[in-house]
Amino acid sequence: MRDVRRVLLTLTVVLFAVYPAAVARADSGESTRVTDEKQHAAAARGGYPYREKSEYVLKELDLKPGDVVVDIGAGDGWWTEKMAAVVGETGVVHAGEVKQDLVDKMKKKFAETSQVKPYLCPTDGAGLEENSCDLAFLSKTYHHLSKDGHVDYLRQLRTVLKPTGRLVVIEHYQALAAGGARNHAWSPGLLTQQAEEAGWILLRSELITGTRHFVAIFVQKELFSIKPPEKK
Ligand SMILES: C[S@@+](CC[C@H](N)C(=O)[O-])C[C@H]1O[C@@H](n2cnc3c(N)ncnc32)[C@H](O)[C@@H]1O
Repeated sequence: MRDVRRVLLTLTVVLFAVYPAAVARADSGESTRVTDEKQHAAAARGGYPYREKSEYVLKELDLKPGDVVVDIGAGDGWWTEKMAAVVGETGVVHAGEVKQDLVDKMKKKFAETSQVKPYLCPTDGAGLEENSCDLAFLSKTYHHLSKDGHVDYLRQLRTVLKPTGRLVVIEHYQALAAGGARNHAWSPGLLTQQAEEAGWILLRSELITGTRHFVAIFVQKELFSIKPPEKK
């Protein structure tokens, strides 16, 4: 009995120790109020902390069965797998990689998942048919694009996406990156400026709570022009 009480006491202490970090959220629709000085400091971690927030990211993507996605720089296909589960067999996730070995690994990994199409993509564009995708997803890939080629890349992506298609970028927030990590990060401000130059409009840009990464979601500028009603 005493052991049970000791375990319960330890659990309570642990719970209260992590509680401020656990409740400190700034995800979409939730309070941005800083309730604890440590709430953002908890975000200083290496690895793939943004993957732990996949539920939040997927909610932001709001994909539907039948959607066509291009995951650019799919890597090991981690996000591809998550998105494929949502778009289902009636949808498609084109998993683009510039490294043949990663494409080969994804082909094996997704051999039984018909909606996933791993492919070797060019470095200067998605290399897919015009007007074919509902969403372009670049997680930690944008900073890899060729120097001074970002605006052209984003312009090219517009042709691959349907008029209602969205662009989603996840990157390490550069102002929060230290040392070598700064070279593997991007500024949300610069991204927005480059995207605007290419004809994209920012819908939302948010820090992924508990990480030093942000997610930015864009739509095409033409959606904002009001077309006069057709004359009869
Ligand atoms: C840091 S990894 C990100 C992997 C995965 N998207 C994630 O978020 O966990 C970046 C990937 O982008 C790929 N990559 C680099 N430049 C690319 C380009 N121009 N087009 C497509 N993929 C690219 C790299 O080969 C690498 O696998």
